[in-house]
Amino acid sequence: MTEKTILRALKGEVLPTPPVWMMRQAGRYLPEYRATRAKAGDFLSLCYTPELAAEVTLQPIRRYGFDAAILFADILLLPQALGADLWFVTGEGPRLSTITGADDFAKLKTKDDIHETLNPVYETVSILSEELPKETTLIGFAGAPWTVATYMIAGRGTKDQGPAHALKAEDRETFVKIIDLLTVSTIEYLSKQVEAGAEVVKIFDSWAGSLKGQDFEDFAVEPARKIIAEMKARFPGLPVIAFPREAGEGYIGFHQKTGADCVALDNSVTPEWGAEHVQVSGCVQGNLASSHMVTGGQALIDETRHVVQAFSKGPHIFNLGHGITPDADPENVALMVETIRNG
Ligand code: CP3
Repeated sequence: MTEKTILRALKGEVLPTPPVWMMRQAGRYLPEYRATRAKAGDFLSLCYTPELAAEVTLQPIRRYGFDAAILFADILLLPQALGADLWFVTGEGPRLSTITGADDFAKLKTKDDIHETLNPVYETVSILSEELPKETTLIGFAGAPWTVATYMIAGRGTKDQGPAHALKAEDRETFVKIIDLLTVSTIEYLSKQVEAGAEVVKIFDSWAGSLKGQDFEDFAVEPARKIIAEMKARFPGLPVIAFPREAGEGYIGFHQKTGADCVALDNSVTPEWGAEHVQVSGCVQGNLASSHMVTGGQALIDETRHVVQAFSKGPHIFNLGHGITPDADPENVALMVETIRNG
């Protein structure tokens, strides 16, 4: 059997048609997702029920034949496994217990305690590795330490990650301990996913863009480097995708600095810029604006061709610049996939 397309791109091969998958491809824009979520009761129950989590992971594969499936879970399950309270407020997003200083940090568990909570996630991975079509790559994932820390410290999503920046400035010792705990726990979490059958892992640093200068090096680059080095030591040849969202100039050299095989690009950079500055050092993933999945039409076709064309001289995995939104039209996703595959 020829090797899976995503794995070939991750090794640096330039393919005539880029492989494609989408961030949040299992999600609320799909009626079958909404039905399975209703069956589970709520989002977290869906994440922790392996048969149902596997089912929603498979739904977009059946519908569109994407080249990769991403495990259905959430980056905030790890803080929950470390002892944080976690719940989701409909229409508003995640809520967690906050970390305001050393006392709150001291209440957290250790990296060796996480599996008790996360075992159902590994079970989902095992089911998927049995049930996925043989040509489909299974991607596991975790949040990057900084992004996960911003939610743990603030207890919710924030526009500017203010509470995490404040803790970094006012109680650096505790802040660094949180980053270090998340770094070592993420390695254990991802290792179990790989042992269960994940073939690639992706590290989501959604808020990397709010780290500037030396902070970007210390808290976006360095934790990613440590995680990737240890994962590759444990699993030689394991491909890793890193997504330092909105890193801007920070994208330049991110492959080399962290050891990532692929760097995912968001919509703050043009495909031409990404090809010139990032794809020169390895595989890139991205970066059609997810708004096209809402608006569709000729603009979607033109922009899809533009992204394919701009990245055609180097290794590329087609994706959106960020997750697909709940108001997207499933027909537009089909049109995007058809345009990529049929020109
Ligand atoms: O991509 C996938 O299909 C895999 C599953 C996945 C989810 N979340 C499912 C989800 C992945 C990889 C994530 C990552 C994630 N989760 C990130 C990093 C990527 C990014 O989007 O920047 C972050 C920051 C989170 C935290 C999170 N989870 C937030 C802020 C929210 C609420 C926002 C929203 O869209 O409602 C979630 C909920 C969430 N995670 C949903 C899904 C499908 C929606 C939940 C629902 O069904 O109501």
